[in-house]
Amino acid sequence: MTETKNLASIGVVGLAVMGSNLARNFAHNGNTVAVYNRSPEKTRALIADHGDEGSFIPSETIEDFVASLERPRKAIIMVQAGKATDAVISQLVEAMDEGDIIIDGGNSLYTDTIRREKEVAAKGRHFVGAGISGGEEGALNGPSIMPGGPKESWETLGPILESIAANVDGTPCVTHIGPDGAGHFVKMVHNGIEYADMQVIGEAYQLLRYGLNLEPAAIADIFREWNQGDLDSYLIEITAEVLAQKDPATGAPLVDVILDAAGQKGTGRWTAINGLELGTPVTAIAEAVFARGLSSATAQRAAAQEGGLPAGIIDDGGVDPDEFVEDVRRALYASKLIAYSQGFDEIKAGSDQYGWDVDPRDLATIWRGGCIIRAKFLNRIREAYDTNPELPALILDPYFKGELEDLIQPWRRVVAAATHMGLPVPVFASSLSYYDSLRAERLPAALIQGQRDFFGAHTFKRTDREGTFHIEWSTDRSLTQTDA
Ligand code: 6PG
Repeated sequence: MTETKNLASIGVVGLAVMGSNLARNFAHNGNTVAVYNRSPEKTRALIADHGDEGSFIPSETIEDFVASLERPRKAIIMVQAGKATDAVISQLVEAMDEGDIIIDGGNSLYTDTIRREKEVAAKGRHFVGAGISGGEEGALNGPSIMPGGPKESWETLGPILESIAANVDGTPCVTHIGPDGAGHFVKMVHNGIEYADMQVIGEAYQLLRYGLNLEPAAIADIFREWNQGDLDSYLIEITAEVLAQKDPATGAPLVDVILDAAGQKGTGRWTAINGLELGTPVTAIAEAVFARGLSSATAQRAAAQEGGLPAGIIDDGGVDPDEFVEDVRRALYASKLIAYSQGFDEIKAGSDQYGWDVDPRDLATIWRGGCIIRAKFLNRIREAYDTNPELPALILDPYFKGELEDLIQPWRRVVAAATHMGLPVPVFASSLSYYDSLRAERLPAALIQGQRDFFGAHTFKRTDREGTFHIEWSTDRSLTQTDA
């Protein structure tokens, strides 16, 4: 009699919180899950604490782990992005066979994913870089998943990923994003948008706190109310929670005892760098990254405060508190809209550059649930791209244009008031400038072209005829056509 061994339909390598939560999520949804961690204590702890939640096959060597998977084998790597990921990939490639699928579920840089996909494919295995959003809670109860990699891997992987993803109106928050690095690219931009979204919320808080002198608990109530309307989102919801929280050690509002130096692991920075490389202005994301950097420049900030830099506050008689709160809500909404519009621009630019054919409708769909930027607003974004998948910019969608009619004046008032009060609003203000730049009939770029031609003969184009031109600045200032 041959022994029939129970095999796992999916495996998870790396059992820190995200990995073990993801493994438990697979198990909760009827999948037999193989689990492996480099140090076996974590594997044993997972089985001891949660082994009764479903069907797990623990292994203490990578070979046993691979042997416990049904074919084609599917293993998700949940270790630290970078060297650790490369090390696990080579172990898996070694132990696996042709057609098996290695999935990297970490926040890997998409260019690493493109490289890894090539390397792994050359050995006959499939490699899928999958962005997974939703933090620890999402990993356990339903994340939003953005897998890239070869389409045929999706055929195998799709059902199993759908079984654990968040679900909105019967639609799972996962779909194949595109080949090789597309999934991790999109996850990177998701995180960039997350940075901008958090920063605009932070700017609104700053204005209410130091412009209106409201206490954190009162601002928590305002955010709770905002969460009932257009701004309804996970980040607004948790903002109210954080602001209402008292410090268990002192009883003071928690937000007052947290050091105001924001950390970052790099995905927002990558999004900004990539925006610069693609020539796509993701100003809201870049300003949000810089704002975190500035907040962490603690020594420089202390020196600036001691240095007594002039504030030059303009006292224009104060603002009506109720009207100001509503204006701030609208300014937040408008700035958030710009951040998303720019993020979708970057995704389009990246997709065009790499030939990924990413569909913005897919993103608006799978970001509605599970992920950190989940928001009611994403339904509107989906409708916008449903109506016109080729929208030149999200803010040009008729619905959002209509919203901007209502938002634009409050937005201007808030940026002006913040400036007068001396309160920093880098994303509110730069997003408004971006908006006005897009609208402007003429930009000072004409002058810049003139300057470039003056000092470097860099030439310019004309508004009234074809060709490339130069002025003989140092001699008779005559016009020459350089491409004639
Ligand atoms: C998510 C988050 C997640 C993580 C980021 C935070 O989508 O679940 O984006 O990936 O929380 O790494 O990044 P920072 O530490 O850079 O803020």
